Amino acid sequence: MINNPNESVPHIHWPPIIRPRRLRTTPWIRNMVSEHRVTVNDLIWPVFIQEGNNLRTPIASMPGVERLSIDLLILAVKEARDLGIPAIALFPATPTNLKTQDGEEAFNPENLVCRTIRAIKAAVPDIGIICDVALDPYTSHGQDGLVRNGIVVNDETVEVLCKQSVVQAQAGCDVIAPSDMMDGRVGAIRKALDNAGFSHVAILSYAAKYASAFYGPFRDAVGSANNLGKSDKKTYQMDPSNSSEALREVALDIAEGADMVMVKPGMPYLDVVARIKDAFKVPTFGYQVSGEYSMLCAAAANGWLDREKVILESLLSFKRAGADGVLTYFAVEAAKLLKAQ
Ligand code: PBG
Repeated sequence: MINNPNESVPHIHWPPIIRPRRLRTTPWIRNMVSEHRVTVNDLIWPVFIQEGNNLRTPIASMPGVERLSIDLLILAVKEARDLGIPAIALFPATPTNLKTQDGEEAFNPENLVCRTIRAIKAAVPDIGIICDVALDPYTSHGQDGLVRNGIVVNDETVEVLCKQSVVQAQAGCDVIAPSDMMDGRVGAIRKALDNAGFSHVAILSYAAKYASAFYGPFRDAVGSANNLGKSDKKTYQMDPSNSSEALREVALDIAEGADMVMVKPGMPYLDVVARIKDAFKVPTFGYQVSGEYSMLCAAAANGWLDREKVILESLLSFKRAGADGVLTYFAVEAAKLLKAQ
């Protein structure tokens, strides 16, 4: 008699009656029973903008990603639209001379992000535009909010975030995405947008945003790494050890009027995506952040991982966790890979 490795478990037979491998034998049957799929509709493409004309600046810590001037960005966005990518997320690199203690450039209707929104809406009207709301691209200290006596103050920051949201909506932004993690900002922004006549503009809240070291390359890309220096964002971004707290954050943001919520970073936090989707059933997005992108690129460049396969597998993991979509720097490359499948 063959020794049954499961003999301590009741009702298990040897030889087995139930054989999960039956459903893995051929591509057609695997396709037939596959539970999750990534499509181009799941991909949101974060892009970096800079001042100037016909300028592209590579970001050393994010190989393959460039900051683009508006004219070149428009060409890139056309390509994304043609591939079927539904939306882009804009991130400006603000010239150092425009960064101030209180980040007033954030609500200048002629700032880089507002000019970019108008240019894209004119040239590529059929792609969605998502804009970050937070002060870190504009502050000389690199914090997401106003600093008073060494403290990032909440309520005064929220007033500025409301002004930033309204100028972005006026420029034509479709979705406002507060990434600052101040308390009460979603409700205040919703009210400010409605009062200004933008009740149709949606809010995608960075509801569960963690104080993560995986944002390092992004801070190089928008040029805030030097401003922030050795400081951190732990008094407002979440502690990586918490996940029940993420549910409280999401509950608050939904109550305040968020249409969609996001978890950030992505891959190391898919447990949080799963808990949120399970509990709230609202549109939930994961952000495969800069450090996750760079990590996969570095391993692929060394020949340690198969680049194309890990891109698609990593995006599929978000869907399996319950995400409705993924913000990813791989969006264009992934869209091409999906098209070729
Ligand atoms: C700014 C912001 C950050 C990211 C998106 N919006 C950085 C931060 O909070 O320091 C990170 C994105 C990435 O790493 O790809 N509030």
